[in-house]
Amino acid sequence: MGDLLVTGAAGGIGSAVVSALEAAGHQVTALGRSLERLPGSARRIEADLSRPETLEAALGDLGDLDGVIHCAGVAHVAPVAEASVEVWTRTLAVNLASAAEITRLALPALRRSRGHVVFVNATPGMHAVPRWSAFVGSKTALRELADSLREEEEPHGVRVTTVYPAATATDHLRAIRAAFGRPYDPAACIQPASLAAMIVWLLAAPADSYPCELSVIPAPRSS
Ligand SMILES: NC(=O)c1ccc[n+]([C@@H]2O[C@H](COP(=O)([O-])OP(=O)(O)OC[C@H]3O[C@@H](n4cnc5c(N)ncnc54)[C@H](OP(=O)(O)O)[C@@H]3O)[C@@H](O)[C@H]2O)c1
Repeated sequence: MGDLLVTGAAGGIGSAVVSALEAAGHQVTALGRSLERLPGSARRIEADLSRPETLEAALGDLGDLDGVIHCAGVAHVAPVAEASVEVWTRTLAVNLASAAEITRLALPALRRSRGHVVFVNATPGMHAVPRWSAFVGSKTALRELADSLREEEEPHGVRVTTVYPAATATDHLRAIRAAFGRPYDPAACIQPASLAAMIVWLLAAPADSYPCELSVIPAPRSS
């Protein structure tokens, strides 16, 4: 059992991760944009990830920490011809720069505990999606961040995992499907609690090995 920080903790996946971690006996610090929307856990941090330069003050002293699970993310749908600089700046700030900054702030504690950083990325194999370049670009860079971090922190005993979830039944996915004019059937998606269970599982990997990448897809449905 450990002390874990979860970002995007009010979101569809993040709130399920908080519940699953608490049910497994972990102490969770939930980070989100507004304190009242965060799930009931011991500690809550209010922070705006679109402003990474404010995070050091917002996070304060993180204390002991065994892991960080990055679940926050935005996914504005717009072609390059229409995507404003605000969309690009916010997407890269929330999805990438804040994940890097929170990781940087957590690393002293994670090195002490030989802890684990988990980045929730995008659907497995996502590449060059028309009308989604800011989102896909941010997640591609997030994978690079994770891969570099894994090499850098190996001597310090810190584990780094990227999780690639396929369609997961959240309001966020419903909105994205609507923006793309595609149908949304939550029953055909991964359930957030199932994805959360796999994140709990990977945090409990054996001492000598762990999944550095985990692609998660819906299981075949029984007919
Ligand atoms: N659902 C899927 O099918 C799917 C598939 C692959 C990957 N993912 C990834 O999984 C992660 C979670 O997705 P989800 O479906 O759970 O979406 P979600 O419900 O929209 O959760 C995203 C979270 O990010 C938070 N966030 C956004 N902007 C923020 C900001 N400026 N400051 C602080 N927090 C901010 C949101 O806070 P608020 O609650 O305040 O808006 C929300 O809690 C995302 O990174 C997404 O890209 C999702």
